[in-house]
Amino acid sequence: KKVLVINGPNLNMLGIREKAVYGSETLLDIAKEVTTVSQELRLETDFVQSNHEGEIIDKLHAARGVYDVVIINAGAYTHYSIAIRDAIKAIEIPTIEIHLSNIHSREEFRHTSMIAPVCVGQICGFGKMSYILALHAAVNL
Ligand code: DQA
Repeated sequence: KKVLVINGPNLNMLGIREKAVYGSETLLDIAKEVTTVSQELRLETDFVQSNHEGEIIDKLHAARGVYDVVIINAGAYTHYSIAIRDAIKAIEIPTIEIHLSNIHSREEFRHTSMIAPVCVGQICGFGKMSYILALHAAVNL
């Protein structure tokens, strides 16, 4: 199974930004663990990051016919990007929404996810484990 993990804006700053919320591990640390667990689960996983909404949409479009599952941490775009939501809907690839933090226990503006209704499900609040849990979910989709 081929899996594409997409990371949105500011996730390249992990390990530097708001450590109390997001932890001290970098995106590279997460990418390494995702690679290790993917091998164990026999998944072929690509891991990408972009700070640009249009680029994330382009990556979603390009996933059509290539990937079986998309895992996305859309960062702040989660809360207001109708364009990313429409792209997920358009590509018809089962997509899992993930977040490091529990968006429902934070500021009110983070409680809404524009993409949740077009995703298979949402995993949030488990830090790096949110990525790993999503890989396990991908196996069984
Ligand atoms: C996040 C949660 C978002 O609200 C925030 O804007 C992020 C990271 C998370 O992984 O917890 O950038 O998606």
